[in-house]
Amino acid sequence: MNIGILTIHDLAFHPNGRLCEAAQKRGHTLVLINPYQVTCTLEKQFPGMDGSGIKDAVNGTLPDVVLPRQGSPMGEYGFVLLRQFHAMGIPLVNSLKGVTIARHQYITLQALAAAGIPVPDTCFVTRPENFFDAVVRLGGYPVIAKQPSGMGGDGVVKIDDDVQALACVETLLDPVKGLLIQRFFPPKGRVDVRILVIGSRVAGAMKLLPAPDDFRTNIHQNSRATAVDPPKEWSDMAVAAAEACFLDIAGIDMMVEKEGVPHVVEVNYSPGFRGMEAATGIDIAAKIIDHAAGLSGLKSWSGQKNIKR
Ligand SMILES: Nc1ncnc2c1ncn2[C@@H]1O[C@H](COP(=O)(O)OP(=O)(O)O)[C@@H](O)[C@H]1O
Ligand SMILES: [Mg+2]
Repeated sequence: MNIGILTIHDLAFHPNGRLCEAAQKRGHTLVLINPYQVTCTLEKQFPGMDGSGIKDAVNGTLPDVVLPRQGSPMGEYGFVLLRQFHAMGIPLVNSLKGVTIARHQYITLQALAAAGIPVPDTCFVTRPENFFDAVVRLGGYPVIAKQPSGMGGDGVVKIDDDVQALACVETLLDPVKGLLIQRFFPPKGRVDVRILVIGSRVAGAMKLLPAPDDFRTNIHQNSRATAVDPPKEWSDMAVAAAEACFLDIAGIDMMVEKEGVPHVVEVNYSPGFRGMEAATGIDIAAKIIDHAAGLSGLKSWSGQKNIKR
């Protein structure tokens, strides 16, 4: 089976390399598709693809399934391409609907809240004056500001006072893209957890401790990870969060306050798993490949393998 990975990185990038290994072990072929080297075509009503990104990658045979793994900064073109695969009847793991939700942090929170999953109090603003109103609504400083499509903790800042707020408005508040302003969960007594859900099951879970002088617990920001066997409440919430966002594969970021309920802060549709594999010893790549390969049986070709040579 041909498994396509939509990515701008090569095999040296950890998830790509590991997914390739896992695919090969199972007799599949993994192909990396750079979205920016693919041409989408609509000819005689049929959607197709051309360009070195797809031709070199799959040698004339379209993938049986595609995993969008471009991360939340995926631009408009990546999104057009996802719709093209969808229109051509090639299954996506994760689905178009899921990616549409999870590529935007605030839309994700909307979906979670609608499904009854606790999320931090959050305002979404586009103007400086609304930023300052939001701080008041949230009970004053400190607050967290987040860009709607950040990843790895970049673009997530803690704001303690008006001076920092003004600097944040200058640098992070894009009047078109907007900014999330969120209640700050103090690190004392707080437990940060990443739960990886694959096919409505928990595939692995880890607790994360921030680096000294940081409040963010992203692996990318040098946090320390340890495996955890999550209580049922956390597991159920993580699975429900993935389902609320229509995702088959999802990295759920949760924060559990000392005496409080867990809150889901973020849902990742193309989660990295280097830290998860290292902390838990679980072969996450194998689980992702097995799940994707299982779903490719659902594909619905309408007869047009429309790749141009
Ligand atoms: N409201 C918050 N209060 C305290 N810390 C937070 C809050 N939101 C996020 N963080 C910390 O920042 C990290 C990154 O935030 P997140 O929303 O997951 O964005 P990213 O996509 O960059 O990972 C989280 O894992 C958590 O440790
Ligand atoms: Mg996160």
